[in-house]
Amino acid sequence: MASDKLRIACTVREAREAIAAARAANQRIGLIPTMGYLHDGHVSLIDLCKNHADYLVVSVFVNPTQFSPHEDLSRYPRDFERDRHLIEAQGAHLLFAPTTKEIYPEDSQIRYEIRVLADHLCGPKRPGHFEGVLLVVSKLFHIIQPDVAVFGQKDLQQLLIIQRMITDLNFPIQLIAGPTIREPNGLAMSSRNSYLTTGERRESATIYRALQEARQLIESGERSASIVIEALMKRISKVQGSRMDYIGIVDLARLQPVEQIQGRIAIALAVYIGQTRLIDNMILEVNHGKVQEIPAFH
Ligand code: PAJ
Repeated sequence: MASDKLRIACTVREAREAIAAARAANQRIGLIPTMGYLHDGHVSLIDLCKNHADYLVVSVFVNPTQFSPHEDLSRYPRDFERDRHLIEAQGAHLLFAPTTKEIYPEDSQIRYEIRVLADHLCGPKRPGHFEGVLLVVSKLFHIIQPDVAVFGQKDLQQLLIIQRMITDLNFPIQLIAGPTIREPNGLAMSSRNSYLTTGERRESATIYRALQEARQLIESGERSASIVIEALMKRISKVQGSRMDYIGIVDLARLQPVEQIQGRIAIALAVYIGQTRLIDNMILEVNHGKVQEIPAFH
């Protein structure tokens, strides 16, 4: 699907104008929200969206409300020209790249409150983060009014919370989840990987290797979550300069910790490598003797 030329909208009004034309032509609108500094993970989501929509909108916006004061908002990597080229080469139709003032003209006084799904994993570690994500994603949904929106499974908790917002608040949007795209050494792609030194990048491959070993342990019959978590901790603690933020084995429906590994579960973790916080996860369906890796929406 080649687009004539990528259109760029920096204001809500420009975006709405561009989309009105597509909608009038009866096109199905797909949205891929990003914070820019695109990598092959983002590109795969744009590609996936082509199977579900005619008119592809990619948003690039580093959303301040999802960063805590001590987090990396000011140094979050940015390269608008490179992003624009990638998005154009991918055949997208509209790039929505608003300023912070455009999205938040005033201090927003309305916030979401998230129950259950944010109780564990990144939720307690990043207070206010998912509330900020929902705030911006719902604003993007209202501005673009997509038929379809695509998110990555790499941010599993974000994905499930957004799906829940769509369901609970009756957004008429179909959510599509894309699989995690990895570096050749297994490291999940992330804009934040650009913070890693060459040595740290090499060491970070252990995260995915440890997840695979956890899966093997479960395949060999281990069902105790605490034993699997301990094995993961031990493996990752050997990585130079690493500091565990959390490891959880949770049920996929509610993201609550499980004691026994059974049914649909996710192993999710966050680890600091030097100053850089990396997250990853693996979703498994465990039914008696059978262990299978499955996508988030099955
Ligand atoms: P960002 O980190 O830029 O990610 C944008 C989208 O790309 C998210 O849906 C994320 O899950 C997906 N993604 C990131 N790394 C991926 C990988 N290695 N493979 C596949 N998909 C990957 O997530 C955000 O931005 C923001 O929170 C956002 C949803 C845009 C709201 O501000």
